[in-house]
Amino acid sequence: MNKYVNKLKKYACIEAINYIYPGITVGIGTGSTIKLFIEELKQVKHLIKGAVSSSKESTKQLIKNKIKVMDLNDISGLQLYIDSADEINKNKQMIKGGGGALTGEKIISSFSDSFICIVDENKIVKDLGKFFPVPVEVIPMSINYVCSQIKKLSGIPKIRKSFITDYGNLIIDVFNLNLENPLYIENKINSISGVVSVGLFIKRKADILLVGTKQGVKTYF
Ligand code: 5RP
Repeated sequence: MNKYVNKLKKYACIEAINYIYPGITVGIGTGSTIKLFIEELKQVKHLIKGAVSSSKESTKQLIKNKIKVMDLNDISGLQLYIDSADEINKNKQMIKGGGGALTGEKIISSFSDSFICIVDENKIVKDLGKFFPVPVEVIPMSINYVCSQIKKLSGIPKIRKSFITDYGNLIIDVFNLNLENPLYIENKINSISGVVSVGLFIKRKADILLVGTKQGVKTYF
């Protein structure tokens, strides 16, 4: 099963390489799909100026592959951000943060001119949040307060066990949210004191979606 899903992920990764052009800086997401993507990126590393990484995990793999890692504060522009998602709909709105790197991912994707999302076909959903909870990164001292505010939105919060983010924070996985208006919920959760970021990518949705399927890659603009 995993081997088969990896094959679909790989199709999307290979297709994403076609969007790399000489002289650009590329933003890099986090997760198992991105691990495969970095392996493809290393084949064309001579073309790019460097990469900006969304997590310690991806930074480690970039360095291992001798791809230059740049600091977001040292660059004046970012042309392309490439990442996967936990769930994505046909409007290219996503739930992200299964790997806990949502804050870095949101910052870099917001900074980037363009966001390409690469997924296998199992990640496509009609309605967000039916199967996957919405991850929320929070400052540790605010955890009880944030949970109480999330309950007011009919969310069921579950603190992710034994997990600390790259920034020393905690993750709350929120089930049962009504995501008929996901932008409203994204803004609402973002405005709770103590929330660092929310894994709803609605305001910053993807621009291009590449889906690895049994029939090959499907592209949605
Ligand atoms: C990490 C993420 C990932 O993009 C998401 O969890 C998908 O990961 P994978 O490629 O392993 O399925 O948001 O924070």
